[in-house]
Amino acid sequence: MQQASLFVLAEQPSVANHFMAELRDRTRQTDRMRFRRNIERLGEILAYELSKTLPYRPESVTTPLGTADISLLTQQPVLVSILRAGLPLHWGVLNYFDQADSGFIGAYRQNTTDGFTIQLDYQSMPSVQDRPLILIDPMLASGQTLVKVLKQISNFGIPSQIHILSVIAAPEGISLLEQEIQHLYRLWVGAIDNQLNDKSYIIPGLGDAGDLAFGNKL
Ligand code: URA
Repeated sequence: MQQASLFVLAEQPSVANHFMAELRDRTRQTDRMRFRRNIERLGEILAYELSKTLPYRPESVTTPLGTADISLLTQQPVLVSILRAGLPLHWGVLNYFDQADSGFIGAYRQNTTDGFTIQLDYQSMPSVQDRPLILIDPMLASGQTLVKVLKQISNFGIPSQIHILSVIAAPEGISLLEQEIQHLYRLWVGAIDNQLNDKSYIIPGLGDAGDLAFGNKL
């Protein structure tokens, strides 16, 4: 069992709370463009916070008037998102790590008599060997999808660092990650909510992030 280091954006009062309030507000979240953009904005803020824990090297930049010393990333991270709900959050993180490689894995719930199982389908992945990995999923609910996706990613190498980034997390999902992930990892979330309901939706949460961003599926 790993005790992850945990960053929770909502623990500090900031303008990020306004983006989160709009995401959750049932009257405002119906504006799909604004919903996607608010997730993207939270992705940008979480990416900035996370960037403080990546390795840097000293560099210098030549300006028209001299030379400035500056610390730059030793290496770009690899961003991996779970389709489809992860796309707006992915875009926000990519706005800041703008030269990063991206990977995508499709996952969906398949209902069974006693609940559901997670099925993976589409994948398009770069190597993660010796590179910082940022695994992106807007809603960390039961945690089953993230655990399964992380196992799948292990076929593409061993990352130098593992970061998991979500907008809202449930305590049940955080516990499952602690039980199942054997490597050190850091968890970056916008907020931690109360619990899951019997359909594994986060309460109070915001609803279905994929549907709100892209429309209902059949
Ligand atoms: N996925 C969502 O979009 N919302 C939840 O509350 C849980 C999983």
